[in-house]
Amino acid sequence: MTCRRGALIVLEGVDKAGKTTQCKKLVQALQQSGKPAEMMRFPDRTTKIGQLISSYLEKKSNLEDHTVHLLFSANRWELVPEMKEKLEQGISLVVDRYAFSGVAFTSAKPGFSLDWCKAPDVGLPKPDLVMFLKLSPAEAEGRGEFGTERYETSVFQRTVQSRFDQLMKDPSVNWQVIDAARSIEEVHTEVKEHTVNAINMVEEQPLQELWK
Ligand code: TMP
Repeated sequence: MTCRRGALIVLEGVDKAGKTTQCKKLVQALQQSGKPAEMMRFPDRTTKIGQLISSYLEKKSNLEDHTVHLLFSANRWELVPEMKEKLEQGISLVVDRYAFSGVAFTSAKPGFSLDWCKAPDVGLPKPDLVMFLKLSPAEAEGRGEFGTERYETSVFQRTVQSRFDQLMKDPSVNWQVIDAARSIEEVHTEVKEHTVNAINMVEEQPLQELWK
């Protein structure tokens, strides 16, 4: 019997939408139902590139805007061999943020086009499913104060949301919009349902390349 590949599942959304909570619950639920799954997150702050990004996000250092965009992309590319290996072994990957955050956040800065921002991520492993946890800016603000990292302001997050709206018009990506204003359990049920469908669907399909 040939080993069936795992699915590449991405969760995206603005800050406070509950991505990390949902990723963790999803991995746990998949493992409990006998489906091999692991969580990843971007930026992965553990690598050398990730540490440069982390220091930038914590405002401990400044980086030129194009440069930091390329570092975020490089941080994805450096993990690609590991991602491919796991998917080939039949492990599904549940990823907290991916290239879509990369494009949405940088293109929310003045002078950055969507196309320029997408270019370095063209050809990355293409997610089989991207779930966008949708929360209105008012609901996000109702969940408490934003943190102190770079980008964590309501004005910037509103622009990021509009960039995500543009990215979600792309029919080449399997987007599912999830209403994240509901309870953790309700959101989880829907997230799990879409994921199980994707895992069943991709078993016989080769991994594709993003935006190619
Ligand atoms: P997080 O570790 O809390 O998810 O935050 C990472 C921050 O970095 C968040 O504000 C989104 C931003 N970001 C980018 O600007 N570009 C990227 O490529 C990624 C993955 C995240």
